[in-house]
Amino acid sequence: MKWTAAKIRTLKGERKIAVLTAYDALTASLVDGADIPMVLVGDSLGMTVLGYETTLPVGMDEMLHHTAAVSRGVEHALVVADMPFMSYQPSVALGLENAGRFIKEADADAVKIEGGTMRAELIEALVTNGIPVLGHIGLMPQSIKEMGGYKVQGKTSEQARQLMDDAMAVEQAGAFAMVLECVPAELGETLSKALTIPTIGIGAGAGCDGQVLVFTDLLGISGKPVPKFVKKYADLNSVITEALSSYRNEVEAGSFPATEQEY
Ligand code: KIV
Repeated sequence: MKWTAAKIRTLKGERKIAVLTAYDALTASLVDGADIPMVLVGDSLGMTVLGYETTLPVGMDEMLHHTAAVSRGVEHALVVADMPFMSYQPSVALGLENAGRFIKEADADAVKIEGGTMRAELIEALVTNGIPVLGHIGLMPQSIKEMGGYKVQGKTSEQARQLMDDAMAVEQAGAFAMVLECVPAELGETLSKALTIPTIGIGAGAGCDGQVLVFTDLLGISGKPVPKFVKKYADLNSVITEALSSYRNEVEAGSFPATEQEY
């Protein structure tokens, strides 16, 4: 069965939703093979696989290239393409055009957009034109220069009220679900209870309707420090480094290839 945005939406209150990022056909097929219903081609690929410091330099061509690869690697999961910085901020028309490219050129099933009330008009235009939208509020990495860094959001009552308005605006505009990034667990739960669409938390506590993590963080591949909200389910960095060092040692010692690997 192929997951759709409408089916994901009906999971609220039925069961928690696991979401993971993927960046190419290989990582996507691993995620899909674990029966994870939604895969996000996050612009986090700027840091995880392209070597940038932030998500800000990531452009449409890079996102289209990686999203198309993820779509080819997936059979069942819903594929959500993250719209990169400045692909939708300048105007609703530009956002509509670029979102359409993800559907037409990269076979995405939905797009993700950062922002609350200020993005309601765009979300409504996308949904009206047949493009499902995953909202994203709280810490928005495309706004880190304005937010002053990667900080927990919604700590004051005024910020919490603003986040509630944002969440309501995104839901009313027609998003099928919403990422809540880095907010206190209590606020994550309050927002999740107030909304009729699923919340997908990342650093937003156990009260959310689902959780999303970055593929390389969960598997401990990068060898770099990870945020507090990450749980490493494996330490693949040391497994991979050990395997690569063994290969190098054996090539240098002349013990690889052995007769079993020879024709
Ligand atoms: O870019 C990304 O991977 C994301 C998720 C972490 C929510 O936006």
